Amino acid sequence: MIGRAALLAVVLALAAPAAALDLHALWDGQCIGCHGHAGDFARTSLEIRNNQLMGKKSARSVAEYLVVHNGGYSPAQISALRTMLTAQVQTAPEFQIHCGGCHDNAAQVLRDWVMVRDGRLIGRQSGQDLAEFLNHHGGADADSRRIIIQSLTRLAAELNYR
Ligand code: HEC
Ligand code: HEC
Repeated sequence: MIGRAALLAVVLALAAPAAALDLHALWDGQCIGCHGHAGDFARTSLEIRNNQLMGKKSARSVAEYLVVHNGGYSPAQISALRTMLTAQVQTAPEFQIHCGGCHDNAAQVLRDWVMVRDGRLIGRQSGQDLAEFLNHHGGADADSRRIIIQSLTRLAAELNYR
C-alpha cells in the first residue's frame, strides 16, 4: 500500500509543480515578517468562494493578487502558496488549540520531533507511530487527533520530509 505522505506528495506534485519547494521556508523567508504564521493568516484573512481562494479585504483571488503583490512572485511560488493556503483555510485550528500551548507551531514539531518512515509519522524519541503517541500525549480527543495527524502529514509532504 502506498503511504499516506507519499500519496499526498503525489497529489501535491500534480496540483502544484513546485511542491518540491520548501514552502515553509518560502513563507518564513518572504511572508512571515508582514503576515505572521501561514495558518493564522489563511484562517483570518482568506476564504474559499466559488472554489477560488480569495483575500477577504482585497476581494481578489490570491493567485491574481500575488502576481503584483510586492513586485510579484513566480508562477511556481504562487501555485505552491495557493495550494498550501487553500489547505490551511479548510483545516480547523486543532493544532493551535491542543498543541499550540506547548509547541510553537506544527512545522517546528515536525522539524524537532518527528521523522517519516514508509510514509508514517514517527516520534523521534519514543519511536512510536504519531497516532499511537497522541493517544497518551496532548489530550486531544479522537476527532481532533485525526485532524491533527492529517495536517501534520500534509505538512510533512509540503516540507518534503523523509
Ligand atoms: C512588506 C510586507 C509584506 C510582505 C513581505 C508580504 N505581504 Fe502580503 N500584504 C501586505 C499588506 C500590507 C497587505 C494588505 C493588507 C491589508 O489590506 O490589510 C497584504 C495583502 C496580502 C494578501 C491579500 C489579503 C486580503 O485580505 O485580500 C495576500 C493573499 C498576501 N498579502 C499574501 C502574501 C504572501 C503569500 C506573501 C509572501 C510570498 C506576502 N503576502 C508578503 C504586506 C506584505
Ligand atoms: C502540556 C504541554 C504539551 C502539549 C499540550 C503537547 N505537547 Fe507534545 N511535547 C511536549 C514536551 C515537553 C515534549 C518533549 C518530549 C518529552 O518531554 O517527553 C513533547 C514531545 C512531542 C513529540 C515528540 C514525540 C517523540 O516521540 O519524540 C511530538 C511528536 C509531540 N510532542 C506532538 C504534540 C502534538 C501533535 C500535540 C497536540 C495534540 C502536543 N504535542 C501537545 C509538550 C506538550
